[in-house]
Amino acid sequence: MMAVAAAQKNREMFAIKKSYSIENGYPARRRSLVDDARFETLVVKQTKQSVLEEARQRANDAGLTEEEIVLAKTIAESPDSEQSVQKAALVLRLREGIGSLGRILKTIENFKGAITHVETRPSKKEGLQFEVLVKIDMSRQSLLQLIRNLRQSAALDGVTLLADNSVSIKDPWFPRHAADLDNCNHLMTKYEPDLDMNHPGFADKEYRARRKVIAEIAFAYKYGDPIPSIPYTETENETWSRVFNTVLDLVPKHACVEYQRVFKKLQEERIFEPHRIPQLQEVSDFLKRNTGFTLRPAAGLLTARDFLSSLAFRIFQSTQYVRHVNSPYHTPEPDCIHELLGHMPLLADPSFAQFSQEIGLASLGASDEEIEKLSTIYWFTVEFGLCKEGPEVKAYGAGLLSAYGELLHALSDKCEHRAFDPSITALQKYQDQDYQPIYYVAESFEDAKEKFRRWVATMSRPFEVRFNPHTQSVEVLDSVDRMEGLISQLNTEMTHLTNAVNKMKARQFA
Ligand SMILES: [Fe+2]
Repeated sequence: MMAVAAAQKNREMFAIKKSYSIENGYPARRRSLVDDARFETLVVKQTKQSVLEEARQRANDAGLTEEEIVLAKTIAESPDSEQSVQKAALVLRLREGIGSLGRILKTIENFKGAITHVETRPSKKEGLQFEVLVKIDMSRQSLLQLIRNLRQSAALDGVTLLADNSVSIKDPWFPRHAADLDNCNHLMTKYEPDLDMNHPGFADKEYRARRKVIAEIAFAYKYGDPIPSIPYTETENETWSRVFNTVLDLVPKHACVEYQRVFKKLQEERIFEPHRIPQLQEVSDFLKRNTGFTLRPAAGLLTARDFLSSLAFRIFQSTQYVRHVNSPYHTPEPDCIHELLGHMPLLADPSFAQFSQEIGLASLGASDEEIEKLSTIYWFTVEFGLCKEGPEVKAYGAGLLSAYGELLHALSDKCEHRAFDPSITALQKYQDQDYQPIYYVAESFEDAKEKFRRWVATMSRPFEVRFNPHTQSVEVLDSVDRMEGLISQLNTEMTHLTNAVNKMKARQFA
């Protein structure tokens, strides 16, 4: 019963997402993570705008700032936070001379605010003399009352509560444990072939029914469950065969050496075979042995934020359905053939796995704009990346290695190759109806990671996160305790390393 109820709940959530996407006019044919991130940014902005408008109307005060609305909402949500002391910064614009400041500071004290800092500067606005920055410690409730009171004051032209992390919003929610990913599977649209007239399966009732059956598995899936096997049909296995054999032809010449190495291993372990689609669970076990990555089933294309967040836990959300038989070499959305042939080999490569995880870690708590940038980087690396190998350029992107048309295009002289640089790549507009006109070439995975790390350090997030593989959780490194934990772990590693070196030295002279 539990599983049924959970599946039902997911379906409802999904129905919202479905209308969310289509009714808001999102017609893109070739959907991608980047499109979704852009779309999300837009819709979230609109939603935010309407929430703020509504709050202003309710309070009958058009001048309420976003921070004040959030502050009021925080109090309303947890009444016991009303009395907790808040650090806040106010900017006061004085109409009169600096002499009026004394009265205003007195008012703050009357509201039991402890002033910790006062700073003045000449106002740039005409007719005003000074602006004053006041930092205070006071209860949230009094802070709101104080702001309302100061707004009535004839001596002031305006009061602004500054956007300060400690003032405005509680910590942004993001998954802290791999089990939290049960809440990170929002899809942009449901049953794509149902909705998109251009989808090869749009007119195929049987195909659509099949997709629904497989989607139910992902809806009911919970962290820790084994991934249910799908008895793939003969037609589905044949589609796999056709793509598999094309990839086999192209791999030796065009795929990077890391891809080839794991591909061979997957063949040796008889996970990759021409006549049958491998099951996600056996591939997940293979990844786990090699890099600690695992899979969980996804019902379709996830929102960029949800998809990227799972990478932080070394979890890849993979679709399980198969593209339509009439279109074996092109699919408008991810399917398991793309995931398996495109993504799996490199997720089993240690250096690439680390790169994927770092994109995921950087996405936790990132702003919408940053998610857009990260998914653009993901697009031009994990999906469509090229890399140098001696004098040659090879493909490592999954979108290339599972689609031979674009693979040959990317390695031809019909497109432009640029050096991978996260700060530039993150802003690259891309072609979404056709092959890319520009591809980014990495010197090596190690080099790409190094550059990516330097770029991530410039992001707005005011804290650092770290994945703890023992507990499958993400820790925010914001306390001495946690950092001490990390230091002691690093010390242990150093001891092992030193011992190993000493033992090797001893052996040399034995
Ligand atoms: Fe992909």
